[in-house]
Amino acid sequence: MNSTEYRGKIKRVLITKEEIDSKIAEVGADISREYEGKPLLIVSILKGAFVFMADLCRAVDIPCEIGFMCAQSYYNGTSSSGIVNITMDLAQDISKYHVIIAEDIIDTGRTLADVIKLLKARNPLSLKVVTLLDKPDRRLVDLKADRSLFTIPDLFVIGYGLDCGEMYRNLPYIAEYDPEGQAEK
Ligand code: IMP
Ligand code: MG
Repeated sequence: MNSTEYRGKIKRVLITKEEIDSKIAEVGADISREYEGKPLLIVSILKGAFVFMADLCRAVDIPCEIGFMCAQSYYNGTSSSGIVNITMDLAQDISKYHVIIAEDIIDTGRTLADVIKLLKARNPLSLKVVTLLDKPDRRLVDLKADRSLFTIPDLFVIGYGLDCGEMYRNLPYIAEYDPEGQAEK
């Protein structure tokens, strides 16, 4: 794929870098206030949330640790099986931390529901979910983030860590993906 083909699939920018930055600054300040004096661990599930995590943790100005996990969830029909395959686990013993999961997007909610179940079983001091994007129209499990930065309609989005076929994670904004998009002339 060349650059013009790449750009041709970007239908429109949904959320600009400036809009993302300003929301993250707000959430970072709130987290800093709420968790002051508490052992805080911010966890993200690779790969989609890596850009959000990088910006969010720098908007937090209290001491905190970060952790990454790789997780694949198994589904039976439309319900979550509760079986999640962790291909890379956290290094920290989370029973010693207040944990915030920083997620890229909640779509059906199945993966995150399984990860929450797994992490709760490890008895963290507390567990909250902050998601950059929420697509509530697509939800298949009963799951609501404690904080959602942007609610979006049922569109496939790319950029700011989110991919389509492993591409577009490096776009600095969130865009709608156009599968029919042609190379720019
Ligand atoms: P779930 O359906 O909520 O389990 O979503 C799991 C994962 O699918 C998310 O963490 C994303 O990595 C990916 N995903 C869901 N919707 C989109 C989208 O619109 N663009 C890119 N990735 C998505
Ligand atoms: Mg994800």
